[in-house]
Amino acid sequence: MSSIRFQRIADERDFEPFLRLLNASFPVPRGNSFLEDFPVWGFRGDETVFHLGGVRDGLLVSAAAARVARLKTPGGARVPVGLIGAVATHSCCRGEGLASRAVAKLLEWLSGQKVALVALWGSEHDLYRKLGFELCGIQRTLPLRGLELPVVPDSETRQGWTPALWQLLRERPLGLALEEQDRGWVEAHRNTRWYWRGEASRPTAYAALGKGIDLAGLVHEFGGQPDELRKLLAGIRREHPDAALLGHSSLIPFAGNSDGSHEYLCMARFMDLSNDPERVFRAFLPDARYPAPLTAEGPELVRRLFGGPGMPAPEGAEGRLPLPLWFWGLDGA
Ligand SMILES: CC(C)(COP(=O)(O)OP(=O)(O)OC[C@H]1O[C@@H](n2cnc3c(N)ncnc32)[C@H](O)[C@@H]1OP(=O)(O)O)[C@@H](O)C(=O)NCCC(=O)NCCS
Repeated sequence: MSSIRFQRIADERDFEPFLRLLNASFPVPRGNSFLEDFPVWGFRGDETVFHLGGVRDGLLVSAAAARVARLKTPGGARVPVGLIGAVATHSCCRGEGLASRAVAKLLEWLSGQKVALVALWGSEHDLYRKLGFELCGIQRTLPLRGLELPVVPDSETRQGWTPALWQLLRERPLGLALEEQDRGWVEAHRNTRWYWRGEASRPTAYAALGKGIDLAGLVHEFGGQPDELRKLLAGIRREHPDAALLGHSSLIPFAGNSDGSHEYLCMARFMDLSNDPERVFRAFLPDARYPAPLTAEGPELVRRLFGGPGMPAPEGAEGRLPLPLWFWGLDGA
């Protein structure tokens, strides 16, 4: 078997085969593009995304991408994190360890970027566990039909993207900090349907439905004044009775604690920088003592801090664990 050469894709022409491989590997409808649902992994001609391609005999057979972003904490800190996505291996070459090698190379790059934590969304848990990732973070799914919502006239629910939403997204309490350079790909999501109330120049509440391949039927972005948000959700429910709200519990104060179902948010691992887990803990909880049980390492530490398999949630450390890890949508996009 001939060897494979991994290299960073720095030229837009080399991005074409990369995108073709993604379109063929993910359940992208014929004629559509992976980037309609995941524009964050598009080619931008700058250093913000690291696209890695693996070429064998002149054919691009392996793809993977990474980027660096800053994760907001309730205390107002910003934790540097790496995000990995667009991982694909050509059907000719699966099971040979190519995806594992590609992700390992991205981890090397991210380690040089001084990120504290790396997160990804993938259903191949064994693949990523071998690379040190663990399922973690607790997200909640609440069917809209189970929520107590007010009755509102249809005419109050407005639809479509309006530029003022960008500012509201930047003000969100959790998730990734959006920078001006992110605006292009945020607005490029083709399948996301936006809803809002109030004035177009300053909506009082907003929500979005259907952010692509894996979030169909889910309200995965939402915010604004709680009472206004409930009215907006009532409007969305009338149009989409089977839709569900997806979010971190702390973002859904109007639901009862036992409502809905819980699942893990993503897979994550700490980078091997000394004291990083403690720094992450302090970024979330600046006043709390770093608890002795957290001297655990690797996957166990990820589970303890953010909640994960085998961890009752919430648990431990002054009742303040798991930490409220949250990203708005797959691939942190
Ligand atoms: C998932 C995918 C990238 C794996 O690529 P690959 O090069 O075959 O992966 P590797 O050879 O490095 O796999 C290493 C390990 O991962 C696990 N693994 C790989 N593919 C898997 C799958 N589809 N389901 C579950 N586990 C899988 C196996 O444990 C494997 O270890 P083994 O060889 O000891 O059995 C490839 O199947 C693909 O392109 N799928 C479609 C796109 C996709 O879903 N990407 C992931 C989302 S980010």
